[in-house]
Amino acid sequence: MSKKTIEITPAQRVRGNISLPGDKSISHRALIFAAIARGKSKIRYLNTGVDVLSTVACLQKLGVSFQLGRYTVNIKSPGIHEWHAENHTAFNCGNSGTTARLLAGLLAGQTFISTLYGDESLSKRPMKRIIEPLSLMNASFHSTNGCLPLTIHPAKLKGLRYTLPVASAQVKSAILLSGLLAEGKTHVTEPVLCRDHTERMMKMLGIPIFKKKNTWTVHALKKSIPGFEYNVPADPSSAAFWVAASLLLPKSRLVLNNVSLNPTRIAYIKLLQRCGADIGYTVENRSLEPFGDISVSSSPLQAFSITSKNIPGLIDEIPILALIATQANGSSQIRGAQELRVKESDRIHTTITCLRALGAEIEEHEDGMTIHGPTPLHGGTVNAFMDHRIAMTMSIAGLIASEPVTIEDYSVVDISYPDFFNTLDKIRR
Ligand code: S3P
Repeated sequence: MSKKTIEITPAQRVRGNISLPGDKSISHRALIFAAIARGKSKIRYLNTGVDVLSTVACLQKLGVSFQLGRYTVNIKSPGIHEWHAENHTAFNCGNSGTTARLLAGLLAGQTFISTLYGDESLSKRPMKRIIEPLSLMNASFHSTNGCLPLTIHPAKLKGLRYTLPVASAQVKSAILLSGLLAEGKTHVTEPVLCRDHTERMMKMLGIPIFKKKNTWTVHALKKSIPGFEYNVPADPSSAAFWVAASLLLPKSRLVLNNVSLNPTRIAYIKLLQRCGADIGYTVENRSLEPFGDISVSSSPLQAFSITSKNIPGLIDEIPILALIATQANGSSQIRGAQELRVKESDRIHTTITCLRALGAEIEEHEDGMTIHGPTPLHGGTVNAFMDHRIAMTMSIAGLIASEPVTIEDYSVVDISYPDFFNTLDKIRR
């Protein structure tokens, strides 16, 4: 079978002003809360990648209606207490772990039988991490080997006190969302802070949720919540690719507009600043999610070292950080990153395979990698391994390498960033 390929040729520099897609994590949650609310909601600047569209398609099966415009989505929902679906409704989560895990939390407390399924990559990803805590809340699941497809039987949920064994915002969110339908209070303790978009949105909507030290407590949702309007800030994990291009190419400068600067999402910028990167940003606190413009200019960089406590804040930025490390001075260490093995691809293996194909010097560890820099990259052919972040990392590699980089199965970028290659063409010089 022939593979669809794209050739990325080297660039001299990148320059310009970029409007990015809406944040993917926040987009999923904005849609889910619009479905939980009763009545009409309006969401602007939603991410329109395939993952978020999977969430839309699933919520439609619960009686929620969507009108998707160019910049605005109008939603009308009967509210979570009135969701309805035929018994044995199948929900296609596509490639989206966030859709599967967050919806599992909400479907666990419904009165009908449902099944969540997904594509080849999602069907290999672990669901035990949600099955275990939700089962302690009385949820009733059936799965093969703790993976999708996952069948969910009706259950009366009860509150739970749970400490997350893996630092995962998806697991934390699944439990907190289940807590809305559970009898009593649900407490989730997170040993390492991970993204908090679910909690912020609950607060914005007046849902009773409280934080004491590193434990979140949510109460059952007794009354319906009204519809709302919400503007989604741009995605910092998508911005990460352009930040890298601007740092690594000489005489480059980019401005990235209205990016989420939520404290749980800016570890990448802060780490690069410590390595010597010329990155500036100003935070606007006008809404529940802080956001602002980021400006980045070419910079010489020093190597870095990150360990398990840093990983949750950088979870989606490791492949692009590894590319940056090939150009930094010294050996960079990425450790405590086992979670990367169960992302859309085994990102430790796929990142290393792709970067080595271009001449990078990297050692693989079970929990990460050591990258020796600076190493000039040559051209070559790489596969995207069905992983959007690998395809985008390799595109930036193509800009900085000495010869073209050909990416097989590149269209997987549509998962989070359908306009990625148009933007690349606009900023390259
Ligand atoms: C996400 C959380 C992260 C991240 C994923 C989106 C979310 O996953 O990698 O892309 O929206 O909550 P984990 O929470 O499983 O680490």
